[in-house]
Amino acid sequence: MIIANWKCNGSKQMISTWFAEFIESYAPKDGSYIGIAPPMIYLEYIKRIVAEKSLKIKVGTQDLDVSNGARTGAISAEMILDYECSFSIVGHSERMQYFNEKNSAIKEKIHKLINVATPILCVGETYEENQNNLTEEVISEQLRVFEGLNFKNKIVVAYEPVWAIGTGMTPSKQEINEIHKFIKDVVQSSSVNSLIPSVLYGGSVNEENCENIFKSEFVDGALIGGASLDGSSFAKIVMSFNGSYK
Ligand code: PGA
Repeated sequence: MIIANWKCNGSKQMISTWFAEFIESYAPKDGSYIGIAPPMIYLEYIKRIVAEKSLKIKVGTQDLDVSNGARTGAISAEMILDYECSFSIVGHSERMQYFNEKNSAIKEKIHKLINVATPILCVGETYEENQNNLTEEVISEQLRVFEGLNFKNKIVVAYEPVWAIGTGMTPSKQEINEIHKFIKDVVQSSSVNSLIPSVLYGGSVNEENCENIFKSEFVDGALIGGASLDGSSFAKIVMSFNGSYK
């Protein structure tokens, strides 16, 4: 599963160029799950292009709100269902940093989303927490949003060390693998029906470093910010994941 998180980037012009470049570089191969989480305002535009070009790309949202009604600027789980979005990112560290989002709200969002679309829960430690060997403790706490839930559908966790997002720095392949295994074990033992999540890596993934990251046993894909804004780079990353680009 390779997901593009476009954050607050894009324009109609950028999207046209993106698809032209993506199609030029991409050799389709079945079995890859490709998703784009664009700014909400471009969802319809992207869905139309994906249908016109017969691409197997899913669209999803970057976030959702805890309920509907008088909540200016928000979108609800009901709307995600209505619009047939495949997934929603939840709990991205930028939501915590700039929108003051707390774990309690993330838990409510996961609960709303659970039978609607695949939640992609972002977890990860800050640089300071990493240096103080608190990574597993911090992630365990973040994963508590899944406690007691009975999942019918697939769930996904994205391990995104805060210090690796947009910085060009990444943990070592071994560190990524260890944390991914840890995440799988924690979720399996805390969810009611012992579901093992897919775990994506996110944080400065690009076409140069992705192959090495994808070789890790417990890496099930990637959540990509900066490098996903270029259709050609994104295509190469997907193909590296599929084993069809060297
Ligand atoms: P990045 O962002 O790839 O630009 O580091 C990843 C993310 O924030 O999801």
